[in-house]
Amino acid sequence: MPTKTIQNLKMNFQIKTIADYNQAYKQSVDQPEAFWADIADNFYWRKKWDKVLNWDFSSPNIKWYEGAKLNITENCLDRHLQDKGNQPAIIWEPNDPEEHHRVLTYTQLHQQVCLFANALKNNGAKKGDRICIYMPMVPELAIAVLACARIGAIHSVVFGGFSAQSIADRINDATCNLVITADGGFRGAKDIPLKNVMDDALVQCPSVKKVIVLTRTRSPISMIKGRDVWWEDEIKKAETLGMHSHQAEEMDAEDELFILYTSGSTGKPKGVVHTCAGYMVYAAYSFQNVFQYQAGDTYFCTADIGWITGHSYIVYGPLAMGATTLMFEGVPTYPDAGRFWDIVDKYKVNVLYTAPTAIRSLMQSGLDFVKDKDLSSLKTLGSVGEPINEEAWNWYNENIGKRNCPIVDTWWQTETGGILISPLAGITPTKPCFATLPLPGIQPILVDEKGEEILGNGVSGNLCIKFPWPGMLRTTYGDHERCRINYFATYPNMYFTGDGCMRDEDGNYRITGRVDDVINVSGHRIGTAEVENAINMFTDVVESAVVGYPHAIKGQGIYAYVILNKQAIDANLTRQDITMTVSRIIGAIAKPDKIQFVTGLPKTRSGKIMRRILRKIAEGETENLGDTSTLLDPSVVEAIKNERV
Ligand code: WT7
Repeated sequence: MPTKTIQNLKMNFQIKTIADYNQAYKQSVDQPEAFWADIADNFYWRKKWDKVLNWDFSSPNIKWYEGAKLNITENCLDRHLQDKGNQPAIIWEPNDPEEHHRVLTYTQLHQQVCLFANALKNNGAKKGDRICIYMPMVPELAIAVLACARIGAIHSVVFGGFSAQSIADRINDATCNLVITADGGFRGAKDIPLKNVMDDALVQCPSVKKVIVLTRTRSPISMIKGRDVWWEDEIKKAETLGMHSHQAEEMDAEDELFILYTSGSTGKPKGVVHTCAGYMVYAAYSFQNVFQYQAGDTYFCTADIGWITGHSYIVYGPLAMGATTLMFEGVPTYPDAGRFWDIVDKYKVNVLYTAPTAIRSLMQSGLDFVKDKDLSSLKTLGSVGEPINEEAWNWYNENIGKRNCPIVDTWWQTETGGILISPLAGITPTKPCFATLPLPGIQPILVDEKGEEILGNGVSGNLCIKFPWPGMLRTTYGDHERCRINYFATYPNMYFTGDGCMRDEDGNYRITGRVDDVINVSGHRIGTAEVENAINMFTDVVESAVVGYPHAIKGQGIYAYVILNKQAIDANLTRQDITMTVSRIIGAIAKPDKIQFVTGLPKTRSGKIMRRILRKIAEGETENLGDTSTLLDPSVVEAIKNERV
């Protein structure tokens, strides 16, 4: 019986001092395999690995802990049952503060996951299947994710803000055969009709045979006989059949754990693939060390499980470490802009992890929403998703942390699986606007356009990582070549992040933003090509070009230059039509903030749009546009400048 070993394991890889950090960092570079083997020794393996690391960035072919057998949910649930069975695993705060919150202990969460794993199997799901999850932020979302992992099915969570078309694209790309959704979801004053949107998507998805629907809003929905079943009924069935326990499926270290779609420079989102062992080790290791979580702490990450932050730092990382993770269904401004602080006060939150966009929006609402809240439980603050500006950093530090909580500005990506560059709370120094130092095990490098390493300090360049780490992506689903071209071909023998970066005199890293055609809107990545494709689907559009521009709350806003085939009779109405079209094609998150109608776009003689110029104009810079002599028709620039919106 593995139970004894499972529960006797103690997690022991916490870096506690700066000396520990330096030593760990050095070892991770000198003896990476020994370093990562020691960390992995803290997990529960059905069988240990034969080889820690096998890698070749040119294919790429990256394998961690090859030969090992495990199930991540045994590490997130079963192993905690003996010592922490009665400790809250998930605390759930509903959208409506009047509704009762819920607490699931490790014992209860384990049981729910087992029941739902059995329900999935009863509905024909099996190891290797791809399952799409489109749900609101309720505990059942975490249960669904973990139940998929338990049976060895690959989950593909789609954020609740995506449109039917986006869901369909993702379901079809991964040929999912099962969908887990809910009738609807509450977000602020809104009631999101998730099942209706899913129904619209499924018209285009022949691979989907079963849809499991959770009741949340109890709004009227269609339920198709033979295809759609209620979550609650399936749980009851499993209970009646006495299926309260579930023997987790044995997975190979490199079996796929999940797919998560993210935007890139092309029009089509990429299905980033993470695998079982490496992802587990890295999510837990980074969670523990960055946040310095201590037993009994309440940890609150405000992200949605539909994004990587929610995967790694609401579900897998905290649960692997036996933490108490708080899940919030709603939005920071409902019922008012004090909601986060109410939650911190109510549950005595010790670690708060949120995004600069939320901080900026709450900052704008004023201190009245903060002043009567007891925030004294807070020990550590985190930031993620985009560069945090100095003003927001200072506000967060002074008014939330009361200058008493280290702020960990965590830089990472969907592809990296976990945090790569960040202070370790209270251990390594912080510096406003800097993600500071790499975690032990991470080897950043700055390169110039030609891929030459930029040595020394006080320099800037493109950020790459020159050695593998366990949490990195392995492929893009169904298209390995795309993974190679996107991440491993720009500069040979390194992983290219797509970010620009500077390194200060002390070796601290500051991420300056994307160097590709990707916009970061409220901490979410949106490809300009994707938005252009959606705009171009509007009936009267001939061509469009989309760029980012600085936005006070969102970090970056979406600025679209659009050529119509006829003059709009009512320009504002046409703007709204275009916005609606984008919403329909991608989702509300990709709506342009500004649309300027133009008669021509600045193009080179070879027909390439000069985005540099469009970016400058969108930013409000109309004087120093740089060299425009290579333009086919320089006069279009004048016209665009004069009609800026
Ligand atoms: C991109 C990744 C990682 C979870 C959320 C976003 C930007 C992320 C920071 C930070 C400056 C940051 C980068 C990165 N980014 N964190 N602390 N400072 N920029 O995940 O959607 O995969 O986006 O977000 O540009 O490449 P994502």
